[in-house]
Amino acid sequence: MPRPIPRLFLNLYRFYSTPATSASTKPTSAQKWVPEKLELDGKTYISEEKYWNISPNLIKLTERRLLFDEANPLNLLKRRIVNHMHKKHRKPGNRSPIFAVCEDQRRIVSVFENFDSLLTPLDHVSRRTSDTYYVNREYCLRAHTSAHQHSLIKQGFDNFLVVGDVYRRDEIDRNHFPCFHQMEGVRLYSADELFGTPQPGKDFKLFETNGERTKEKQEFHAFDAAKVLELKLKETLEDLCRELFGEKAQMRWVDAYFPFTHPSFELEVFFGEKWLEVLGCGVIEQKLLESAGAGSKVGWAFGLGLERLAMVLYGIPDIRLFWSTDTGFLHQFQGKQPGDSIQYVPISVHPQLYMDISFWLPENHDSTHMKSDAYDLIRNIGGDLVEQVEIIDEFYNPKTNLTSHCYRIIYRSNERVLTKEEVNVVHGKITEEFIRLYNVKIR
Ligand code: PHE
Repeated sequence: MPRPIPRLFLNLYRFYSTPATSASTKPTSAQKWVPEKLELDGKTYISEEKYWNISPNLIKLTERRLLFDEANPLNLLKRRIVNHMHKKHRKPGNRSPIFAVCEDQRRIVSVFENFDSLLTPLDHVSRRTSDTYYVNREYCLRAHTSAHQHSLIKQGFDNFLVVGDVYRRDEIDRNHFPCFHQMEGVRLYSADELFGTPQPGKDFKLFETNGERTKEKQEFHAFDAAKVLELKLKETLEDLCRELFGEKAQMRWVDAYFPFTHPSFELEVFFGEKWLEVLGCGVIEQKLLESAGAGSKVGWAFGLGLERLAMVLYGIPDIRLFWSTDTGFLHQFQGKQPGDSIQYVPISVHPQLYMDISFWLPENHDSTHMKSDAYDLIRNIGGDLVEQVEIIDEFYNPKTNLTSHCYRIIYRSNERVLTKEEVNVVHGKITEEFIRLYNVKIR
């Protein structure tokens, strides 16, 4: 029996494992907002209408840089993990830390960096314009910090942590937001580094020729090398988890799949009465290392979602709170140290208000794209007042050849009580925009 896949914030399942249906990259609307170019992180990219799917609201998110804000819990958590890795992993002689920290990589990356370099299959669902934000056919907003693995290894980094904001088109609810934050770790080893200085009679090798690819190892790796790598990887991450969740933390390893690691695993921690998925990791595909010019070494990588961890560790109930500028939220983290234990005290006790919107899509309009576009549009107009969006009904009428969608929008403010009248105005604007942009017929 396959185990049920939890919906998770890091969203590994959707990103890597959803079976590809008819992959489509066609644009969905004639009148979408397409600026001529986008300038981000000191570089200018010329947009291409056919691929562009970035909304003004998303651009605003790129400007916040939450990880650099010391009063943000994500910043505290980042520093806590970095401090731990620096303390525990040091060069021989103990003078300096092993892992370089990279937190200013450009957030727009090439399709090669985001997908090809990581051996993502060409027809993989994560490449679609309904899943990833594109500027043009060649460039997109990074969908994970793994997008920097290949180029950093190529530049000669053997051991590094990459931290940053990443972007995925997704639904909006208390656990999902189009921008979130990840930390990536990569460690490469030569034979000596992996096995220790060679001793007479003990000749351990990294590679074997004509080897077989099994559940446990890649075809190029010697069995011992693969096992030691896996051991070191798991040891490193269990140690990190104990730092975050306490010495007595209960953990378990689950097999996983990522295109660029094998074997691959997920680590789960028992917290608050349930098993919580904390990170994804694995032994880096040798093909990746070879193409990055590090084929003589072997290595592992891990990636973890910072929001997911911070929500659990600090008791933050809603992912949108990380973006709050409310001093009621921020003052709870201001001036704190990474090692402090902090429990967030909720500030919003305001009631929710919900309204539905249902419509017929124009004939032949792609239903999956409409969903992604709908989440963006609603968020764009409703801004922070939109707490959740859910598609609650979807059906196809073969007689008219039309598809109907119904979305439930839950409005709630963290700051104040919303009146029905004021929500009506926002909801009306959203409705108008659906008609204007997508030519839908309200039901
Ligand atoms: N990039 C993966 C994700 O976003 C996580 C990961 C990183 C998995 C490194 C394995 C190794 O979901």
